[in-house]
Amino acid sequence: MIDQSTVQKIIDSAQILEIVQDFVSLKKRGVNYLGNCPFHNEKTPSFTVSPAKGIYKCFGCGKAGNSISFIMEHEQLTYPEALKYVAKKYNIPVVEKEETNEDIQEKENRESLMIVSGFAQKYFTSILFDDTEGITIGQSYFKERGFSQQTIKAFELGYCPDKRDAFTAHALKNGYKLDFLTQTGLTVANESYKFDRFAGRVMFPVHNIAGRVIAFGGRTLKNDKKIAKYLNSPESEIYHKSNILYGIFQAKRAITKLDKCFMVEGYTDVISMHQAGIENVVASSGTSLTVNQIRLVKRFTNNLTILYDGDAAGIKASLRGIDLVLEEGLNVKVLLLPEGEDPDSFSKQMNSAEFNNYIADNETDFITFKTKLLFSEAQKDPLKKATLISDIVRSISVIPDSIIRSVYVKECSQILDANEEVLYSEISKILGKKFDDNRKKEFYANSNTSTQSTSYQQTSTPQVNKQNNICEELEKEITSLLLTYGNEVLFTARDNDFTGLELEAHEFVTVAIYITDSIFGEIDDLEFANLLYRKLLNMCFLFLDEGKQIDLQELTHHEDGEISHFAAELLGGGYTLSKLWERGDYVRNTTEITLKKAVPKKIMEYKEKKVDLLLKEAEQKLKTTSEPEEQKQIMQTYLNLKRLQMHLAKSLGDRIVLK
Ligand code: CTP
Ligand code: MN
Repeated sequence: MIDQSTVQKIIDSAQILEIVQDFVSLKKRGVNYLGNCPFHNEKTPSFTVSPAKGIYKCFGCGKAGNSISFIMEHEQLTYPEALKYVAKKYNIPVVEKEETNEDIQEKENRESLMIVSGFAQKYFTSILFDDTEGITIGQSYFKERGFSQQTIKAFELGYCPDKRDAFTAHALKNGYKLDFLTQTGLTVANESYKFDRFAGRVMFPVHNIAGRVIAFGGRTLKNDKKIAKYLNSPESEIYHKSNILYGIFQAKRAITKLDKCFMVEGYTDVISMHQAGIENVVASSGTSLTVNQIRLVKRFTNNLTILYDGDAAGIKASLRGIDLVLEEGLNVKVLLLPEGEDPDSFSKQMNSAEFNNYIADNETDFITFKTKLLFSEAQKDPLKKATLISDIVRSISVIPDSIIRSVYVKECSQILDANEEVLYSEISKILGKKFDDNRKKEFYANSNTSTQSTSYQQTSTPQVNKQNNICEELEKEITSLLLTYGNEVLFTARDNDFTGLELEAHEFVTVAIYITDSIFGEIDDLEFANLLYRKLLNMCFLFLDEGKQIDLQELTHHEDGEISHFAAELLGGGYTLSKLWERGDYVRNTTEITLKKAVPKKIMEYKEKKVDLLLKEAEQKLKTTSEPEEQKQIMQTYLNLKRLQMHLAKSLGDRIVLK
């Protein structure tokens, strides 16, 4: 039990942004932060964090809550465990009564397995530092490999005594149940014997993303070919080899900060590179990459560089696996080390600046690498070359981003000495097929009713229903403007007088920038209520952030059926400026002039209606709650909205065009 005042202190210290950012890479978007949801797989970010409110919410899967519930959900912890996690992060001392055997028994199996793994790690580390055998054998081994004390501590390395059951006996004596020892694989037992799986090995604990030990790799110190070099923990309730990357806990901050991740093969590669100052590195631990491992990387960055040993025979075998990585939308590069070197040996020959330079000079993007590698073999054989082309094209076609695809087509057509058109037609065959299978049916099934506003999930009370519909219609119009004309220049310095924007001579504002800034700039409640339009707005925001253009054509291939459908509808002439002219709102003029009027007008209209709606909702809520704390909060929102309403009314009066 944690006492109530400590609980309060923990809750007060927890900053939602700091908590979530340990696991999810977030971008500031207006007053909120936005990223890919860690609770479901998505390519369009719908996971938002509001530091002001101290909450997170995913508009894709609906998960929502505060700092503590985030940790509970993400790390699969109980409430007290989540509190302890946060306490540790903020260095808040938690005094607890000693855990008895019964306490341990009571805990969930998972939790028990993690506790016993943590206990084992501490034991192996203490043997390494304090026990004669540990020091003479374990420490000397690590010293010989050049691992510093700091490195050993960072990775919590250890040593398991070369005695039959030293660890098992110690654990049992301390009240840990044999059941948990065998479930984690630390102990191998049957009716007649119990012994330590890792006896006589140096220990590499495997941490989950939150830093808890979930498994081990143990390396033998014997040079006996008949003995497996590494023994690993078996799969258990807490350890699924294919879901975890070795080193992710130690690397995640650096990965986020540098927006890049290195992938190597083994434990010692990770550790040596880390020690050499390259901390954004993880290992697949000798297996080929899985989708879940890639998604783990993707929580932190989109840029992955795979390091290959110079003499790795397996490079070609692993090529196909990398299509998986491309498919997840990651930018993949390959770095081939000099003959006979692995990341472990190579990183010891130079300082981190030199290593970084080597990487920068030698990493090649994956498709180019693959094309060159295969082309050198197929060059003289036309039949082989044809297979090669379709192989490369398949890799290119899985890349979700059309702009990146086209860059590769250009590059590969040069290497392969093949016509770009040929490659494109192959790609569109593959993509076209995908489009046929998944989207077309959906597209045609809906196209008859496409003029009606599709009803997406919305919560609305009868009283505000009508107003809700008006807002949704405006959301649709703004989204349509955004997707159709987003890349067009809206305002330049010449418009300063009437926009009040103070642009310099070389500066300009596009339709997309204007729209996203207007929606995200004021208060977070102005965000679109309709899920589809919200997703599209968020997506465009991130495009802009990455310097990309809005590509309606590309959106028609989006994996999200609603998005592709909506984009296809727009592309098929669903929204044109003439629609605005017909209503007599605007004089017939050039697109630019029409946009200058249409965009701010729509935005202003939307804000007005939305603020109106939110005010009505707040009034209603005020009537129905008796909770004083909640009333206070609603009142605050209400006042903010009132202020915004006055501000809007003033700008309406100021600007003639906006009547
Ligand atoms: N591996 C394993 N079991 C083995 C051999 C290898 O699980 N019998 C995994 C380990 O995760 C290892 C990785 O494959 O880290 C890469 O193998 P290798 O390159 O042989 O090991 P290194 O990490 O380089 O170890 P060392 O430098 O100590 O030889
Ligand atoms: Mn090695």
